[in-house]
Amino acid sequence: MKHGGVPNAVTSFVAVLVFLQCSCLSAEVVTCSGIVPMVYRNDKISITDFGGVGDGRTSNTKAFREAIYRIDHLRRRGGTLLYIPPGVYLTESFNLTSRMTLYLARGAVIKATQLHTCDQYIYKCNSACENGTIDGQGDVWWNMWRRRTLQFTRPNLVEFKDSRGIIISNVIFKNSPFWNIHPVYCSNVVIRYVTILAPADSPNTDGIDPEDSYISTGDDLVAVKSGWDEYGIAYGRPSNDITIRRITGSSPFAGIAVGSETSGGVTNVLAEHITLYNSGIGIHLKTNIGRGGIIRNITVSDVFMENMRKGIKIAGDVGDHPDENYNPNALPVMKHIRIKNVWGEKVLQAGVIQGLKNSPFTDICLANINLRGSSGPRNVPWKCSDVSGGASQVSPSPCAELISRSQTGACSIPF
Ligand SMILES: *[C@@H]1O[C@H](CO)[C@@H](O)[C@H](O)[C@H]1NC(C)=O
Ligand SMILES: *[C@@H]1O[C@H](CO)[C@@H](O)[C@H](O)[C@H]1NC(C)=O
Ligand SMILES: *[C@@H]1O[C@H](CO)[C@@H](O)[C@H](O)[C@H]1NC(C)=O
Repeated sequence: MKHGGVPNAVTSFVAVLVFLQCSCLSAEVVTCSGIVPMVYRNDKISITDFGGVGDGRTSNTKAFREAIYRIDHLRRRGGTLLYIPPGVYLTESFNLTSRMTLYLARGAVIKATQLHTCDQYIYKCNSACENGTIDGQGDVWWNMWRRRTLQFTRPNLVEFKDSRGIIISNVIFKNSPFWNIHPVYCSNVVIRYVTILAPADSPNTDGIDPEDSYISTGDDLVAVKSGWDEYGIAYGRPSNDITIRRITGSSPFAGIAVGSETSGGVTNVLAEHITLYNSGIGIHLKTNIGRGGIIRNITVSDVFMENMRKGIKIAGDVGDHPDENYNPNALPVMKHIRIKNVWGEKVLQAGVIQGLKNSPFTDICLANINLRGSSGPRNVPWKCSDVSGGASQVSPSPCAELISRSQTGACSIPF
């Protein structure tokens, strides 16, 4: 959510093509249902072939870099699987390459050395099938953030940039210094059966856009973003066509979030079958003046939440600016938002929708929503401004802005 210092668009400088695919070690070809097929890799090497030692003390940086250099340069037909046997492998960051699978055996842990150097700290990893662990040992970074001694923004645990055809599955991601899994300018990315863990007080340890996953972190569980203010506007790359499905978790901030960095635009997002416990905000669509960008056609459906501060929040004044150079006339647009089939227990406040005076949120439509308070059905009423749309079967009754026009009158798509 927030940044440590320099904006992401500037510091995410590493550009590598990564074609990672999940394959199991068994001889059969395993097929993932979904947009990225799994690939069987005939060529297999082990980190131990490169001097890797999983004793939790020895540095494996050289082993990882040499193994990947070998995969990159020999370019074996059908790609190569790099096997990490059970053990704890301490390493600095390393880059992945195309047509490779990083395979963590059950009981394998890739652990970040707690480096203080800021110039080369981006992890690029991927894995498959056995629930091995990638541990960022982020507490050094969280403490630097807390003490305000960071010179650069913190590293993500795993970042893919300008990549396509990626599967991340059955991996446990732990203690990321910053965001956990960060695909940027990527297509066909499938993230599923992952577990993402960070202490609830760890700053900004955002989750991802995954499926079938359990997430418990110190910031939003899943956040769709597309760039920050003038940097994001200049780059102009939207985040489109994203599906978030079957996610369970808890977070001090939001469960499902769009934004607040949405300067490139975010369109066609579907989030469904979401279960949230003990969290700040269930569904949070957020942007700010200076962001620009269009947030459009977002559907969130089939959500259960329990013990939450707020059920739904859609707001135009969230998040800070990278610097003073943002354009105050770059107003974001928020429209065609559907939220339906939401059931909540112990939700302190049902919803807040705060559009922008000079860019009201339009076509915001709510249907079949029941958010009960902590002591019986009463809770803090909805609060809205600068918004139009519709509501059907929403309890507690939403604000007049949404119900004044005969039920779903201002909704472009009927429920
Ligand atoms: C990773 O790749 C980037 C871009 O090619 C390069 O700048 C960086 O030095 C590489 N890092 C490592 C650890 O090899
Ligand atoms: C691995 O983790 C996934 C996701 O949490 C879980 O569904 C699966 O049962 C785990 N598999 C094993 C072998 O532990
Ligand atoms: C809206 O997004 C959904 C995916 O959530 C997509 O199926 C649909 O085609 C989009 N609608 C429009 C009008 O683009």
